[in-house]
Amino acid sequence: MFWKIKTCLAGALLLPAIGATELRNIMYLTNQHEIFPGDTQTAPVTHVAMSFMRPHVFNRPEGSHDWPAMWQTVEATRAQFRDGVKVLIAIGGWGDTEGFSDAARTAEGQKRWAANVAAMVKDTGADGVDIDWEYPGGNGEDYKTVPNEEKAWEIEAYPKFLGEIRTALGANKIISAAVPGKVGDMLAFTADTLPTIMQHVDFLNVMTYDMMNRRDNVTKHHTGVKLSIEALDAYIDRGARAKDLNLGFAFYVKWFKTQHEPCLANPIGCPTVLMEDPETGADLGQAGAFAWADQTPDWLSASWQAALTWGKYDPDDGSYYHWDENLDVWWTFDTARAVRNKFQSIVRSKGVGGVFAWELGSDGPQFSRWQALNKGVDFANRHHSQKHEL
Ligand SMILES: *[C@@H]1O[C@H](CO)[C@@H](O)[C@H](O)[C@H]1NC(C)=O
Repeated sequence: MFWKIKTCLAGALLLPAIGATELRNIMYLTNQHEIFPGDTQTAPVTHVAMSFMRPHVFNRPEGSHDWPAMWQTVEATRAQFRDGVKVLIAIGGWGDTEGFSDAARTAEGQKRWAANVAAMVKDTGADGVDIDWEYPGGNGEDYKTVPNEEKAWEIEAYPKFLGEIRTALGANKIISAAVPGKVGDMLAFTADTLPTIMQHVDFLNVMTYDMMNRRDNVTKHHTGVKLSIEALDAYIDRGARAKDLNLGFAFYVKWFKTQHEPCLANPIGCPTVLMEDPETGADLGQAGAFAWADQTPDWLSASWQAALTWGKYDPDDGSYYHWDENLDVWWTFDTARAVRNKFQSIVRSKGVGGVFAWELGSDGPQFSRWQALNKGVDFANRHHSQKHEL
């Protein structure tokens, strides 16, 4: 199996033009990390999403063309990737939901927001937008302080909101949405709403990461294969086509404090400590994340080295993990091999139309996941393209 991949990649010297049968390969970009890989112009990236503009910006009266400056222009981003790459502006992100709620509340507000976004897309020269509302219907960062019942109206409003964005942008611009990877967070993505949602968007970026977070009380793989398949299946069962879904990859590492005794026999699925305040939802400092490009917190650095050296692949799932029994820390992250394996175990087996990663600069300075992702995409484009033809 592995030699086959190697043989095929050896022949992958010519980069084809971006074609309709290619897997989508989408990179979120921020300016949070200085290092950038040297091969972006030859990598099989189809879209990049510059993150973030804030949603509240588009609630102002129409007619202004004064948009928040990003760290570089759309044109500068375009020039960093191969010809034909689509550049999207991502709007929102974790914790930034209020501007969306304000916009979506009334038909008038939806139209105004959509018209402003269309003007921004025209003025910046972008190819479209990625709507990162986390999440319509609730379970966002404020879920303890603003109960989901107060956001229940958003479940019906969300597809209409997307419809207004489509009307304002027209058929030729791209609209994508970043959507939850945990089934419990898919409040606005039901069998009733999803068919309409899919009429308005080009594709969904299913955030198949952070599937273990501080709200959990047992250890899980945050980018787990089984959890990813469960997420994709939920969207498919509720009315999305597999080829309109993209599988998410995380270019960062997560750790969680666990209990000790109950984890000795098997650290997979064993109890954590309490990681968030049950009243306020505040972070209790018992879990964290860092980018590959970041410094590891000092107190964790020996544990982190152990996780890199002694981690294992869960035979039941394929995901990489390590449990440090000295500090009682659960480590969960993707290695390059874990990325590679997902092309067979998820991308191909579910027939999804693409992959995406949060976020490119985070994978430096080695860019091992980035390279594995590109190899997987190249391989799929050469061997399985018929699967994605319309
Ligand atoms: C985790 O939380 C769930 C739901 O509140 C509860 O039923 C379960 O017993 C808890 N598990 C552990 C190991 O604490």
